Formats: sequence, C-alpha cells, structure tokens
Amino acid sequence: MKGIILAGGAGTRLYPLTKAISKQMLPIYDKPMIYYPLATLMQSGIRDILVISTPRDIGSYKKLLGNGNRLGISISYEVQNEPKGIADAFIVGRDFIGSSSVALILGDNVFYGEKMDNVLQRSVKTEDGATVFGYYVEEPSSYGVVEFDEEHRVVSIEEKPSYPKSNYAVPGLYFYDNEVVDIALNIKPSHRNELEITDVNKVYMEKEKLKVEILNEGISWFDTGTYHGLLDAANFVETIQKQQRIYIACIEEIAYKKRYIDKEQLLELANSMIKTEYGQYLRYIIER
Ligand code: DAU
Repeated sequence: MKGIILAGGAGTRLYPLTKAISKQMLPIYDKPMIYYPLATLMQSGIRDILVISTPRDIGSYKKLLGNGNRLGISISYEVQNEPKGIADAFIVGRDFIGSSSVALILGDNVFYGEKMDNVLQRSVKTEDGATVFGYYVEEPSSYGVVEFDEEHRVVSIEEKPSYPKSNYAVPGLYFYDNEVVDIALNIKPSHRNELEITDVNKVYMEKEKLKVEILNEGISWFDTGTYHGLLDAANFVETIQKQQRIYIACIEEIAYKKRYIDKEQLLELANSMIKTEYGQYLRYIIER
C-alpha cells in the first residue's frame, strides 16, 4: 500500500497564522504538523509516500522532508493548483498510486494511542473496499459523520450534517483499494465546489464495501485546523512527552524501530540536532 499526505488548502480558518506559511508547517509543540500524519503512515508500514501541497508551499515540504532517504522511505511531491477538494488527492496522485491500494491522511490530523499500531496494521491490509474510522465527539456537525448498526455496518455517512445521525466523526485517515481513483474521477463537485471525500465513501457504502473501525480505548484524535485544536494537540504532546518520556510522531524513532535505518544513521540524525531535547531523545533511544 502507498500513502498520500494532503497538505494543501488555503488554511483561512487559521488566519493570520497561515497567511504567509502553510498550515501543516505550523508547530505542534516541538515538531512541524506534517510530522504527525507522516508518522501515522510510517507506523502503518507504508514506505512510499506522496506529499501534495500548493504551488506556494510545496518547496518548503521538499526542504523539510527531502526524498525520505534519511528515514529509509521514499517521499515524492505533487502540486494541487487549487483546493478542489480532498478527493482530488486521488486525481492529482493517480500516477503515483498506479495499480496500488492507497491510504490518505489529512496533513492536519493527529492520532495517538497505544492501540493505534494494531488499528493501523489491520487497516493497511485493505485490498478490497475501504476502511474509515469513527471517533466519538460531542459536536459532530463540523465533520464527516458516520452512522452504523450493531454489526458495525455503515448505515449512512454525511459531510457536516446540521442534524447528525450519530456522534461518530470520521477522522481524516482513509484506506482504499485501487478503485478509489476511478471513483474520484467520477464524483461531482459538491455545493461548495469541492470533490468531497464523503462522496467517495458513499460510493463504497452503496457497494457495501465500506468498513468502519471505531477508535476508542485510549486513542486520541485531534483535527488541528482550528486554534483550539492546534493548542489542544500541542498541550497533549507536551504532557505525554514530558511525563512518559515517549515521543509522539518521532519519525526518526519509527524509522529506527522499523529497521528502515540503523543505529549509525540514527546517531547521525541525533547529532544534527543535539542542542534540542528532540536530538537528545534520539540519543537516549540509541543508548537505552
Ligand atoms: O479532519 C477530519 C475532517 O476533514 C472530516 O471529518 C471531513 O469529512 C473532511 O471533509 C475534512 O473536513 P475539514 O473541514 O476539516 O476539511 P478541510 O477543508 O479543512 O481540509 C482538510 C485538510 O486537507 C486541510 O489540512 C487542507 C487540506 N486540503 C483541503 C482541500 C479541500 C487540501 O490540501 N486540498 C483541498 O483541496
């Protein structure tokens, strides 16, 4: 399976923060936002990753992440000229996807939890159909909302409904078979003139090929597209890292633990930022 990080969009909900820089470049505590979705894809075992961003910002991502070599993965880049919708990622990325199955993660979504590894290992095996997630929230109407029956069969999925049929928001992480490209090419833009990811998911639902996994048992999800989300996520990361000495979204550590890079390569990465707690943490991983 291949992976796409969608890191474009206008970011207007975070103005003036994002007037001159890309939202997914903003810090969440000690690292750029895009590290978090990248870490999630890496945790899934995905090593071939496409970053999609705007003509203005794509260069910054190339500078930050390079070709992925230093992490033992491959990172490539595509430009989305206009924010035509989340599902446009499969059209922009269709050459990259080729005949593969594909995971899509939104660049502003942060996941964390001990059980997350298991969830990801299961989802990455999606070869036929699609897997989305459900996360309980008090106010679901600013998200995609999924309704399901006792057997976890999806009954409905709606984008930002005024009257949500359940309390389960659909986070910005999706796993699809290769058909997603054709589906994205055939859906029509919504009233806000975007190719909606929810419309893609509806097609899978109608074919009875949409699976929903409920994220519970200590899994945390943050949509960091608002000031509140951004600060909540940063506070959360700081607390966990300081109290538990476990780093969230430490892409170098994941690469090392997955054996994409060896001790010497990790040491080199650690030394390149040894003045920071982040660099010292990488040293600690090697030495512990
Ligand atoms: O965060 C989860 C939610 O994300 C889902 O529950 C919704 O179903 C889904 O539509 C989406 O809702 P948002 O309102 O948060 O989507 P937004 O337009 O903010 O876009 C999400 C990210 O994708 C954002 O970081 C910018 C990027 N993006 C968005 C669009 C529309 C692009 O890179 N290109 C685009 O064309």
